[in-house]
Amino acid sequence: MRRILVTGGTGYIGSHAVVELMAAGHDVFVADNLCNSKLSVLDRVARISGRRPEFAQIDIRDRGALRKLFAAQSFDAVIHFAGLKAVGESVAKPLLYFDNNVSGSVALFECMQEAGIKTVVFSSSATVYGEPPSVQFREDFPTAPVNPYGRSKLMVEDVLRDVAKGDSEWRVALLRYFNPVGAHPSGLIGEDPNGVLNNLMPYMAQVASGKLKELSVFGNDYPTIDGTGVRDYIHVVDLARGHLAALSALGKQTGVLTVNLGAGRGYSVLEMVNAFSEACGKPVPYRIAGRRPGDLAEYFADPSLAHQLLGWRTQLGIDAMCGDTWRWQQWAAANAAELA
Ligand code: NAD
Ligand code: WQD
Repeated sequence: MRRILVTGGTGYIGSHAVVELMAAGHDVFVADNLCNSKLSVLDRVARISGRRPEFAQIDIRDRGALRKLFAAQSFDAVIHFAGLKAVGESVAKPLLYFDNNVSGSVALFECMQEAGIKTVVFSSSATVYGEPPSVQFREDFPTAPVNPYGRSKLMVEDVLRDVAKGDSEWRVALLRYFNPVGAHPSGLIGEDPNGVLNNLMPYMAQVASGKLKELSVFGNDYPTIDGTGVRDYIHVVDLARGHLAALSALGKQTGVLTVNLGAGRGYSVLEMVNAFSEACGKPVPYRIAGRRPGDLAEYFADPSLAHQLLGWRTQLGIDAMCGDTWRWQQWAAANAAELA
């Protein structure tokens, strides 16, 4: 068993990773500033896991709070989910994203180094690739992010590469997520987005539940299987398990691992709409709208390095992604007061 600090652990992916870490017997401590999540999620993590992780409300930019935490607690590793993730917001507020995601990560790594904690798993993103040479992305592709969010992710990757270059004791996994979707099969935790819904799956779920009128399909004139955008959707539980595999790999080696976490195949928007309609047992009303600026037609992961280096690959398919999302949507609708 290892003692793991999970930053951003009350968030969507972090909370699912906490469940998997505890199921694997690890001792988990969550630090989060709750800017995009609620503490109550840990009660539901406890209902799933049988115990509640320790928690401290900390902003990773607060070096004093981090030093106090590291003085009081000993950790073997950090899984670093804490960050802002909305591409559109990053364009409107670049300084917020660079301060939160980059300066915050530097503060965290600095305090980790002072405390002698030199193992970190970092939440990176396929957005670091920008518009690469082909639709199936490999880790050795050039990186050219096209928005401040993607640039903030690449900057943190570069910081960690330089830290590991300067101190060979560091063990770093840079995990480039594609499109995380779905929810824990219990239906008790899932994506609980604040504010504007940008992403396809949560938007579709709210259309199916009647909270929203219809889905706008952003373009059906792309050079893809049916003209709509194609993405590599990965079940959040598979994604969480990828972090345990990365932790285990870092136990055997120092240096930097850069790995795509994706299924290695894409689904179109209309394929997702059809799968979601199957899962919820009713049609998802949609209309064809114009393309969304900045969208690529199609991309998905080459996940072979994840399999080779981490012994990990996705296990959960589109039916589980949609069925688990729907179950969570129904639980959230029936327990809105708890989520308020
Ligand atoms: P999320 O917003 O649900 O979770 C992020 C958590 O970090 C939230 O609980 C938030 O309160 C916390 N946080 C943000 N800034 C903080 C700070 N300064 N100090 C402490 N806590 C802070 O998002 P998520 O979907 O779970 O994403 C987790 C990570 O994965 C993020 O770094 C995100 O960029 C990355 N990622 C997400 C996706 C995706 O589509 N969801 C894809 C690729 C990468
Ligand atoms: C998926 C597909 C849309 C909404 C984003 C971020 C990326 C990462 C994952 C953080 C596209 C289409 C969507 C809608 C639609 N996040 N769509 N109608 O843009 O692939 O990736 O989330 O790292 O950084 O960019 O995800 O879910 O927004 O879109 O037609 O209402 O669904 O055009 O083809 P995306 P998405």
